[in-house]
Amino acid sequence: MTSTSSAPGKVYLFGEHAVVYGEPAVPCAIERRATVEVTTRTDGRLRVDAGDLTLDGFTVEYGGDGAPDVDVPQSLVEAATGYVDGAVAQARDATDTPEVGFDVAIESAIPLGAGLGSSAAVVVAGIDAATRELGVELAPAELAERAYRVEHEVQSGEASRADTFCSAMGGAVRVEGDDCRQLDAPNLPFVIGYDGGAGDTGELVAGVRALREEYGFAADTVGAIGDLVRRGERALDEGNFDELGRLMDVNHGLLSALGVSARSLDSMVWAAREAGARGAKLTGAGGGGCIVALDESDASRTALSYTPGCVESFRAELDFEGVRREDG
Ligand code: PMV
Repeated sequence: MTSTSSAPGKVYLFGEHAVVYGEPAVPCAIERRATVEVTTRTDGRLRVDAGDLTLDGFTVEYGGDGAPDVDVPQSLVEAATGYVDGAVAQARDATDTPEVGFDVAIESAIPLGAGLGSSAAVVVAGIDAATRELGVELAPAELAERAYRVEHEVQSGEASRADTFCSAMGGAVRVEGDDCRQLDAPNLPFVIGYDGGAGDTGELVAGVRALREEYGFAADTVGAIGDLVRRGERALDEGNFDELGRLMDVNHGLLSALGVSARSLDSMVWAAREAGARGAKLTGAGGGGCIVALDESDASRTALSYTPGCVESFRAELDFEGVRREDG
């Protein structure tokens, strides 16, 4: 048998970085998905085909001895297999089948490591497909919890619940510490710009932490992001796009003040604003990767496609659906 599930990526409408210090954040699922196909195998081994997951693509097969037999850099293998191993471990635990092996095939339309929650989507879809393959259906909230454990472990304790909860549940969500809930939101017309790169999340988080410890006004900036998020939640509830855009602009400025923007991100943000977007900001850890703009028209997407440093721009509406079964 084969089971296939998909789960969406996400953008931060508001609140990245400040969420690390207990402030609320509002991530939103987007219509770009990772799809994971899982088939059980009888020999207990794990075979991961991540052909579409990296630029080069690779297939790796390994068993309990943990010695993958592949001809690609070890770091690349570890990056992809760490999350898949974690998802498989969670599926084995949830179904009480510690010995079972799997063939796993991953396809993802979410740029990697660029602030769009690609790893969370792979883990959520992977746990769902693997548990269903073994005849067990987990509720989205449990998938979110198990996927969070995987991210927490792979990212050495630095992960928040934002990506995994948002990917499992879909829509706009609110995360404040361990308190995660879904929000009522209108359809949000997002446009994404991608610079083809990725920031180092650990380094960027450490940079903000150091700044916050050194300067009272940096700590105040983190607090100001929290205040902004609370205003943003109200604007979301009212469907007030002008106010949402204005607050996205301010959020980007505050993130810049904390040192996590980049020239490429600033140029994409300005290109989107000048083309008439209601607002634009970086999304995720920063340092490189993606920006998100709020724009019902196609103007900012077109402007981004001509912006130096932007390698891809696309429209991605709010995805109200979280993890989803793709077979049968
Ligand atoms: O770049 P992403 O999508 O992994 O987001 C990082 C968000 C941070 O707030 C900077 C860190 C975190 O774990 O919340």
